[in-house]
Amino acid sequence: MTLEEKASLCSGLDASNTKAIERLGIPTIAMTDGPSGLRKADGENPLWGGNSIPATVYPSGATLAASWDVDLMESIGAALGRESQAQGIGILLGPAINIKRSPLCGRNFEYYSEDPYLTGQMAAAYIKGVQREGVGTSVKHFALNNQETRRMSVNAVVDERTLREIYLAGFECAVKQSQPWTIMASYNRVNGTYVTQHPYLLNDVLRDEWGFEGFVMSDWGAVDERVPALAAGLDLEMPGNGSKGDRKIVEAVRNGTLSEDVLDRTVERMLAIIFQVADNRKAGASFEAAEHHKLARKAASECMVLLKNDDAILPLQKKGRIAVIGEFAKKLKIQGGSSKVNPTKIDDPWEELLKLSRGKGQWTYAQGYELANEEWNEALAHEAVSAAGEADVAIVFAGLPRRYESETYDRKHMCLPESHNRLIEAVAAVQPNVVVVLCNGSPVEMPWIGQVKAVLEAYLGGQAAGGAIADLLLGEANPSGKLAETFPLDVRHNPSHFNFPGEGDEVVYREGLMVGYRHYEARAIKPLFAFGHGLSYTTFAYTGISIDKREMSDDETVQVSVTIKNNGGRAGKEVVQLYIRDVESSVARPEKELKGFRKVHLEPGEEKTVTFTLDKRSFAYYNPSLKDWHVESGEFEVLVGGSSDRIMLSTALTINSTVSLKKTVSRNTTLSDLMAHPVGASFVQGIMNSYGALGTGEAVSDDDRLIIEAALMNMPLRNLISDDTRLEDILAQINA
Ligand code: GLC
Repeated sequence: MTLEEKASLCSGLDASNTKAIERLGIPTIAMTDGPSGLRKADGENPLWGGNSIPATVYPSGATLAASWDVDLMESIGAALGRESQAQGIGILLGPAINIKRSPLCGRNFEYYSEDPYLTGQMAAAYIKGVQREGVGTSVKHFALNNQETRRMSVNAVVDERTLREIYLAGFECAVKQSQPWTIMASYNRVNGTYVTQHPYLLNDVLRDEWGFEGFVMSDWGAVDERVPALAAGLDLEMPGNGSKGDRKIVEAVRNGTLSEDVLDRTVERMLAIIFQVADNRKAGASFEAAEHHKLARKAASECMVLLKNDDAILPLQKKGRIAVIGEFAKKLKIQGGSSKVNPTKIDDPWEELLKLSRGKGQWTYAQGYELANEEWNEALAHEAVSAAGEADVAIVFAGLPRRYESETYDRKHMCLPESHNRLIEAVAAVQPNVVVVLCNGSPVEMPWIGQVKAVLEAYLGGQAAGGAIADLLLGEANPSGKLAETFPLDVRHNPSHFNFPGEGDEVVYREGLMVGYRHYEARAIKPLFAFGHGLSYTTFAYTGISIDKREMSDDETVQVSVTIKNNGGRAGKEVVQLYIRDVESSVARPEKELKGFRKVHLEPGEEKTVTFTLDKRSFAYYNPSLKDWHVESGEFEVLVGGSSDRIMLSTALTINSTVSLKKTVSRNTTLSDLMAHPVGASFVQGIMNSYGALGTGEAVSDDDRLIIEAALMNMPLRNLISDDTRLEDILAQINA
């Protein structure tokens, strides 16, 4: 390859393809969005709303995460892989897995969760599904793209523990478990450096530590300086921009500011994936749109979350008078504001409800509000309220219109349109049996929650959401979704509230580790609905927990088995959630952290045991001075339940660390630290004898003793050993 040919692989041909090199038989790769459906150009570039070919619209990322079902996620990935093959797409630009630091991020509908463990497991499943069909993925947006405000210039300032434990851990799991063919580097900066030219993130962490083997592409337009980016590990600049960057690379090699080895490294990575795509190409592939629509419907019904169901008002009986209110019932919001996919078909909730009720019950529809302008419309509201007043049950469809949440901008508040809130309250004033169905990609405040009996969070359920909603409301399917994010009562309760979206081009992650439920629990702030919450039409009992060892060292594993029983009247699925708690820690740690989950199907009366295998990483925090994950010796609890706020069983074990934190002692090491030091502790008695503080002999009251001891514990060695030679000698012995 000539230098120019090598450099030509470092940027796209256009917005959707890499460059081919005909002379050498190097083909192009076609790539396209998006995480929950193919958005392949149909003529003009669909990047900004242009037309795209028909493709199945699956539930959005936020919705799929609420299934807590890795097998379902993998099957969605495989379906997307098949559709990609059918359309000649070699790399699907997903999954989008940034952590939900704030409920106001405009792209939360695409992202999975506030928790890195759930994020990583679901991402790994999705990637596995797509790639087993011979299509690559691009896990995005690596990393800390947690807001849309000033996304192309903002600098995310974050401490190392928070970076590792919260914002990188999902990507780490995805890379280690599923080896995505590519990673997409994000627009923003992290601690002062653009991610697209961040050697620590792209080379040290992603490749050297995690073993990522594919290539890194930029988000579209995210490269600032091309040559430093290449050196930092950014292989492919997207979109193509007339080879401007390629020329800079050639020039840099020519003038010696860039070693050709660095370019060769990128070329090898690019060629490996280009030929991997080519070798896995299934020419003539096709997919069954009807089959995929059915999968989308099943998936949606497994994702939607039953938040409230007083008096078991749901599932609805197919009888009596049922008023269906709200224009969303006929124009459901099925996907997010930016990754817009052209559906092969759309299930309309109203039609599906009528179909499923098979002529039973008297169904009426009232528009209630206008999606076009969201203004209060007296006539429409009056019609809806009277329809509700004459019915036995009223179902109100409400949610976030398209412009309320999207890529490129963040939400200003967490409210539904005022007209939706007012309508729900007006209906509830005349009708005691109100069911609210929400279609929104991220949390909303529910001022009317006390006035309605049931709430079904339908999220953005994809093209078959209308059918799934009908299945769930009428009991054809039993809800089994669980929230993958906290719904705060008030947006100001959320952990990032004072620091989102930052000031100018800087956003400081001052809440640190305390993101999502970690925050609400640490502050004892009761949310509207907790992380992990979701109801079913049946009930589950947690009947037993066992652990196969009460003590282990941090290089072993432990098995925790949990037995649950369906003690209700119909089949259902429960998501068994496992959290760990470090009972006593010398560093700040959340109340509890999710480290295992399993979705279990149970027939009425059926009992099953699920077993979790926990290892060091299940219990560890990231120790920046060790530059590694660390488990402090001591007691840990294992907590199990059907929601973060409904722990049903717990057990405990002691873990002994095999890693001694190398602690150098100095003249300013305190007595308490010396006592905790693996070697220094044996010097304490000698030091205290010569210091003699408590040797006065006279009786010292308990209170005084407490004060004196506390003073001693905080005292540096320089105060306890007056002779400097002796002090230096002791320090040298301990440090040796
Ligand atoms: C966008 C998005 C990214 C998408 C890319 C290509 O700006 O940030 O998610 O894959 O451009 O459309």
